[in-house]
Amino acid sequence: MTGNNQKQQDNALLNEVDNEFNGLTLALSKGRILDETMPLLQAAGVDLLEDPSASRKLIFPTTHPNVRVLILRASDVPTYVEHGAADFGVAGKDVLLEHGANHVYELLDLRIAQCKLMTAGVKGATLPNRRLRIATKYVNVARAYFASQGQQVDVIKLYGSMELAPLVGLGDLIVDVVDTGNTLIANGLEPRDHICDVSSRLIVNQVSYKRKFALLEPILDSFKESIKATS
Ligand code: ATP
Ligand code: PRP
Repeated sequence: MTGNNQKQQDNALLNEVDNEFNGLTLALSKGRILDETMPLLQAAGVDLLEDPSASRKLIFPTTHPNVRVLILRASDVPTYVEHGAADFGVAGKDVLLEHGANHVYELLDLRIAQCKLMTAGVKGATLPNRRLRIATKYVNVARAYFASQGQQVDVIKLYGSMELAPLVGLGDLIVDVVDTGNTLIANGLEPRDHICDVSSRLIVNQVSYKRKFALLEPILDSFKESIKATS
């Protein structure tokens, strides 16, 4: 097949996928958000037909004829929802604060994947008397937090394993999510400042909220019932 033919076939397949589905597309991430959202979805009559953790696929049909699920990187969920590639999604408040979620409705606090955004540093270490260096994947959160404390800092962008950075002199402090604190302890770090509490939120595309309200409403109502029942 020539490159052009292949491209045409790929485009046809993409159009087919887009045109055939007029229901709701839900954006989730693998791991704790998927795991902790599943019971809420099941209570709303939405069950995945295949286990995403055992599959390389990224689009999953469900038992609900009008709902399909996309599996994304956690930090990409707001982008898909904002652009309408997904109608709704579940994202941590940390991700929403970091990436901005100005053009989506943050409708529900699902109270799942609960943790805290904190600063942390080497246990017992005193901070140097100069402008601090902060290693983190939450660069916007870190800048905003230290600015709110009247402190100018240099922020070093990382993509993961933040706990390693201060141990090898890359940064004086980190900003990361903390739950049990075990990861900090295991790496000889200690929590310092509490920045904010984090839980996962249901976010909805603004146009989908209006156009697909009839489909969304029963799912939103069921989620609200589930949250009420567990709080
Ligand atoms: P990405 O793949 O984009 O880097 P990630 O690795 O942070 O994202 P997860 O580890 O699945 O993705 O975390 C998803 C969300 O769960 C986070 O955005 C945060 O809100 C929450 N979370 C992260 N770590 C914990 C934890 N240890 N306990 C509870 N909730 C957590
Ligand atoms: C997250 C986060 C911390 C850890 C905190 O990592 O990045 O490292 O949880 O949790 P704790 O306070 O209970 O130890 P995760 O387990 O999601 O692995 P990841 O680094 O692959 O995201």
